[in-house]
Amino acid sequence: MIAVRLALALCVSSSQAALAAAPDELQKSAYLVKITGCAGCHSPRGKDGEIVENLRLSGGDRALPAGDLGRFYPPNITTDIETGIGAWSADDIVKALKSGLTPDGRILSSAMPWRTQYKDLDETDALAIATYLKSVAPVQHQVPAALPPLKAPTP
Ligand code: HEC
Repeated sequence: MIAVRLALALCVSSSQAALAAAPDELQKSAYLVKITGCAGCHSPRGKDGEIVENLRLSGGDRALPAGDLGRFYPPNITTDIETGIGAWSADDIVKALKSGLTPDGRILSSAMPWRTQYKDLDETDALAIATYLKSVAPVQHQVPAALPPLKAPTP
């Protein structure tokens, strides 16, 4: 009986330890997402330039230039299936960050700074970022299609 109680106590305490680790990891992931600046591009802004909190990470409202390829709105990276990346796995997100490759075979343009920054993330940090994004609530918000590049002014 004592042995059973002991086993039970061990079980409970180890599952509590597992539960305690999860929020810690999520906190680390949230911290990484914060310092890598994802929300700064991937969220709409209010009139004073502040992030619109209830639309955080659901797509930016400023198209960013990528040379001759055009101007790209930072897409919705919440877990919404239809307008976000809810159908992507954590590995899909890691791949996009580190090699620019999306599940549908596109290579992300330089408007998303993967070549200059995120390709150097180590696997653990990239996976932590992906895990965080997989934990974000879905927000339905479709960003507009890409725009053509701005033409150089004709003299
Ligand atoms: C400087 C602005 C900027 C920052 C910072 C940024 N992104 Fe992006 N991101 C973009 C743009 C613009 C695109 C679209 C590029 C394209 O379609 O060629 C994009 C595309 C993506 C995509 C592809 C989504 C899809 O539906 O195709 C993912 C995933 C993504 N970003 C995740 C992240 C994460 C995670 C971070 C933070 C680690 C981040 N981005 C930081 C601008 C940014």
